[in-house]
Parts: sequence; C-alpha cells; structure tokens
Amino acid sequence: MDSLSITQPDDWHLHLRSGVMLRAVARYSAQYFGRAIVMPNLQPPVTSVALAAAYRREILQALPPDSGFTPLMTLYLTQATPVTEIQAAAASGFIFGVKLYPAGATTNAEHGVADVRAVYPLLAEMQRLDLPLLVHAEVNDAAVDVFDREKVFIERHLQAIVREFPDLRVVVEHLTTQEAVDFVWAQGPKVASTLTPQHLLFNRNALLAGGVRPHFYCLPVLKRERHRQALLAAAVSGNPKFFLGTDSAPHLTHLKQSACGCAGCFNAPVALALYAQAFEQAGALDKLEGFASFYGADFYRLPRNSAKIRLYKQDWQAPTAGDPDLDVTPFLAGEALAWQARLD
Ligand code: NCD
Ligand code: ZN
Repeated sequence: MDSLSITQPDDWHLHLRSGVMLRAVARYSAQYFGRAIVMPNLQPPVTSVALAAAYRREILQALPPDSGFTPLMTLYLTQATPVTEIQAAAASGFIFGVKLYPAGATTNAEHGVADVRAVYPLLAEMQRLDLPLLVHAEVNDAAVDVFDREKVFIERHLQAIVREFPDLRVVVEHLTTQEAVDFVWAQGPKVASTLTPQHLLFNRNALLAGGVRPHFYCLPVLKRERHRQALLAAAVSGNPKFFLGTDSAPHLTHLKQSACGCAGCFNAPVALALYAQAFEQAGALDKLEGFASFYGADFYRLPRNSAKIRLYKQDWQAPTAGDPDLDVTPFLAGEALAWQARLD
C-alpha cells in the first residue's frame, strides 16, 4: 500500500506549554491534528476556568494563521479546587475534562492530589455534570518500584473510583502496561484510554540498553516487551475504548540531557508517522482511522472531523530541531521514518 486516506485525527492528550515553547511547538500539532485535549500542567497550573480561558486565547494566538486547529481545554484538579469551579468548567463550553495528577507523580504535578479520597466530592459533581475525569494513573510512592506504579495506582485508586462513580466518564491516560489494558477492557463504555506512539513502538530497552537515552524517557516510563505487545494489541483491536493521545511533551534539550533529565517525549512532529508504522507492523492499517479519528471524538461527544489526511509510505527523516530559536529536540530526531502525512 503506497498511501492511505483517513479522516483527520485528533490528539486526545497533548502538552503545548506556554510562552516561547508554545509558540515553537504548536504548529507541529496543528499541521496534522484537528483538535487536541490540552493538558493543564503549566507553571502555575491551570486550576481555574479563568486561567483556562486565558491559556486558550494564548494558544489560539500562537497557532499559524488559518490553521483551523481547536484546543480543547482541561482543568488541573487540586485538593483545594472549589466545587463551584467544577460547575463553571462544565458550563464553560470550552473545558472538556479535569485532570487528576497524583501529587509529584510527573512533570509539574506538585500541586496535584495527594489524597485521592479528598477529591471524591469533586468527582461526584463531575459525574453529576458529566464532565470527564482524565487520570495520570501512577502512584507517587517511594516504596513502589517505578515500573509498578501504574499497576499499583489501578489497584489502590482506580478500582475504587470506577466503583464509587459508575457514571463518571474516565480516561486513563497513556497506558503502559498489560494490567492497565486489562482494567480498561473490563470496564463499561464510560471508561476509555489513550495510547502514545512511543509506548506502541518501544520497550524499555530503547531507554536503557547500550546507554541511557533521555529522549525516550517519559512518564509513565517505557515497560518491558510483553506490555508493549498488549498495548499494540489494544490499539489495533477496534475497541473504541482505546484511542490516540500522543502525550507530546516538549522540554528544552539541556533539561532532558541532564544528570536529572525531565520526563516527556516531544513527539508531535512524528507522532502520526509512528502510529502508522505501529499499525502497519501489526498488519492493521485498516484499524488506524477508528483509533486516530473516530473513537476519541465519540467518547468526548464531539463531531468527527470532516477533513481528510493522507498517509504516504515514503521515507523521510525526522526533524533534528524543533525550532530555529529554541533548543528542543524532537523524538527520534534525524531517524529514518517510513510514513509521511499531509492534509488532503
Ligand atoms: C509530561 C510533561 O512533561 O508534562 N511528561 C511525560 O513524561 N509524559 C507529563 C505527563 O503527562 O506525565
Ligand atoms: Zn501527558
């Protein structure tokens, strides 16, 4: 197959940052995706509807002219979030979910939730108002091995949340383990999940074998091969509970290539090419459109896009620099890629 035309995809999990970084990276997502769920882990975090409105305006200004890209905003949940803020978010028309970061679990998660039960009244209100909960499903517990933190979060917190709030729509973000796939698969249609291109294509050897490769470091961290296979099987299954979310998360190069490097892969320039590669490897290119362009929109109850994008089986080189003025290294910089995408 030389090319494949699909409905334009959306990115259901994206970090766009703010300021100069936002202005450097926004165009990469806008180039391919119609909409994106924009993560709220800025400094300071997007904890109110007013901050989300201001952030949304900043994103719209940073986009290339006529990009047509729509940012879908989220709120950063804290133990101090007033219930009135949840109500205002649900009524806003531009906030599509509330993100739960376990305190300290990942980049800019310091203001997140230390005691999950303390936010139950807020989850109850979200359930009542049908505002989705988006979850970074990892415990931040020094006693738990970093490779087990997703599994333990599911056991300690997620099982209880879905039991207590059966009508709450929940997105378990960036799955990395067989256990997470099994959990999502076993729930009703209110529980869905996103999958990143790096977790579909790479296991932890890419990060650690033959040298530490900081551009493969993201959270939740890459896992062993059997988990990658479970994630890929879920992605190509045609089950609408699994959809595209790149988790593209740019950091300045020197902050990643450091003695204590930041977590996050800036994959926006290559994400669509990598998803196509993963689905091709699985012999399931016919399942790509549902995963990339239909199931997320359906879950968020938004219309599917009408534009089309064409994927070409054509060698190209991943960009080596994200921006002429800002040193941010794209995921797989300079590597040969097999698929290229262009809007029809
Ligand atoms: C994200 C970031 O840098 O904001 N990093 C990452 O490794 N994925 C945060 C997150 O989604 O965990
Ligand atoms: Zn993320």
